[in-house]
This record gives sequence, C-alpha cells and structure tokens, in this order.
Amino acid sequence: DKGGWSSFMQKEVSEQPTAVADTLRGRLHDGRVVVGELEELGDDVLRSIRRITVIACGTAAYAGMVAKYAIEKWARVPVEVELSHEFRYREPVIGPDTLVISVSQSGETMDTLMAVKYAREAGARTISVCNTQGATIPRESDAAIYTHAGPEVAVASTKAFVAQIAALYLFGLHLARVLGTASAEELETAAYELEHVPAKLATVLEQGERIAQLAHWMADTRSVLFLGRHVGYPIALEGALKLKELAYIHAEGFAAGELKHGPIALIEPGQPVFVVVPSPRNSGSLHPKVVSNIQEIRARGARVIAIAEAGDAAVLPFADEVLRIPLAGPLFEPLLAVVPLQIFAMELSAAKGLDVDQPRNLAKSVTVE
Ligand code: M6R
Repeated sequence: DKGGWSSFMQKEVSEQPTAVADTLRGRLHDGRVVVGELEELGDDVLRSIRRITVIACGTAAYAGMVAKYAIEKWARVPVEVELSHEFRYREPVIGPDTLVISVSQSGETMDTLMAVKYAREAGARTISVCNTQGATIPRESDAAIYTHAGPEVAVASTKAFVAQIAALYLFGLHLARVLGTASAEELETAAYELEHVPAKLATVLEQGERIAQLAHWMADTRSVLFLGRHVGYPIALEGALKLKELAYIHAEGFAAGELKHGPIALIEPGQPVFVVVPSPRNSGSLHPKVVSNIQEIRARGARVIAIAEAGDAAVLPFADEVLRIPLAGPLFEPLLAVVPLQIFAMELSAAKGLDVDQPRNLAKSVTVE
C-alpha cells in the first residue's frame, strides 16, 4: 500500500527518518552504544579482529564505503570494502582474524550470499547487516545486525541505505568502546549525532518541492556528473547510481580529488555537476579544496548544483543552485546529503514519465549470479 504517495519510492524516501530512528532504537543508551547482537558474539571475538572486509553490491556497497571512514576512525581497525562478485573470485586473503561484514537489504543477493559462504569456509567471522528478518544471508552468518527500515518495495534502495549506514555506525561505535580506541567524549558525541539524524533527515525532506522543480528543468539532460570527497565520495557514486537506474541517464560519480587526473576533461559548457560539499566548520582543509574544485569546473562552464551545509556561504558565488543540509558532524553528513540526490533522481524519472518503482531491466533482489 502506497499510503497516498504516488510511488513506493516516494513513500520510502519520506520514511527515512523513521528507518534510522527504528534502527537506532534500543541500541543507544545515554550516549553509550550497545548492540545486543554484538554482545552475544562476545567481546573476545571482537578483540580478536585484525581487519574488516565489507562485502556488498550496489547501494549496499556504498553504505559500506561510507562506514569505512567511520569504523576506521573510531575503532582503528583497517576496513576494506569489496563488491561481493569481485571478492569471491579472487582468492581473498582472509582467516580467523578477519571479520567479514555483508550488507544486504534483501539478504538474498546471490553474489553476497556466496561470498559469505566463501568467507566462512576460509575461517573468517561473519556478520550480516540485513533488512529482512530470517533471510538467507543472516542465517548463514555468525551474527546479524538488522536494520529496521521496514519493507522496501521500490527497486531503488533509499531508506535501507540510510539504515545500513546507521547500523554500520552502531557497529563501529560498539567496537570502538570494546577496543577502547576512542575517547569517551568522542563516542558520546558520535552517539548524540546519530540520535539527531532522524530529525535532520526530516528537515532535508522539506526541500522536496524545490528539488522536484530542478529535476523538471533538467528533464532533457543527457549526462550528469557527481563529485564528492571523503564520505562525500560514496555519496557521489550513489547519486550517480540512482540517476542511472531511475532516469536512464548517463551519470558518473567521482572523487573530487581525481578531477585533474582525468574527469575534468569531461566538463564542457552546460554540463550539470552535483557537488557534495564537506562542512566548512569541521572538515579541515577539505572544504576549501572542494570549493576550489567547484571554481575549476565552473570556469569551464559546468552548471554546479552544490549540496552544502546550512550557512556555508563560500559556495554561493560559484554554484548555480545550492541545496542545503543541516549542520552535522563530518561523518554524519552523508546520511543527509544523499537525500537530495535520491529525490532528484526520483523526480527526474517521474518527469520523464518513467516507472519510478520498477525501472526497466532491474529486479529488487538479484538472486542469480
Ligand atoms: O538486497 P541487496 O541490498 O543485497 O541489494 C544490493 C543491490 O542490488 C541494490 O542495492 C541495488 O544496487 C539497488 N537497486 C540500488 O538502488
């Protein structure tokens, strides 16, 4: 039931504050993160982990890429993120000190399932981050941290994505507490930030109309580029994926630092470029670097749509459009910055008269290789 919304995707985009709040529920205790499923696994197991490999496909892999920055920062354990179908065919070096975290909304993605089985046979510990109770992947894993986003019907993943990031962050904070790798203050601040994500998501959703208008103006666009840095980089990749699958438009996401290594050659007058801008307050030198990237592409005629923190005035002289996200700690911005990109792709699909919930050639879960 679409509950009055014109598509399941629209409904699911609007449910993101709840998806995150429900995923956090019962796992935050006055600034202390306790994930019951990890308690069951035991602190000794967590202490024995020397590295973490996240395996997933599509949007779920981008959630893993975002979480890599947070887990490494808090828990100081190296994290690599790999597409499930690449992982299982390359004889990965894993063993009992490796924790393999699979991320899958459906819990049925064949390549991810096979990768989990491979990891188990190689002696690795396995944790599943999954949105579907009792699905095959969590059943095949040592532990499951469920996201509580509720059923996701639209093929394009939205609320599951933000819930996956929230769950992986909870994992990172729990692990950091057990390992003693972050100060009590840092852990508390992060827990506080996490707790405030749902309300901030609701604020971002208020810009829906404006983004819809932008999408309508751009209905004839044939190519869109997305730039981001640090945690904004996987968000750029996710923005591009959404646009490909929903609006059938050629879209590419790049790490902003790569511009001069090739992609800037693509910029010609009128080329739309979305730029995920890090916070000017707490991202160190990243903010001026991304602003200077914006100047570089603007000088070559790009049409820049910046996604920037409320009050960031530095982008104003160079961006054609600015979509605002509320103030948040640097690691928490991606949970907010992804929303305008989801809405943009959804509205562009609708503007082109396409099937928003069921794009051509795609299935909700890929249960074949
Ligand atoms: O069910 P899963 O999370 O394992 O699915 C993974 C991908 O197939 C999925 O995220 C896909 O990329 C989405 N259609 C993206 O919107």
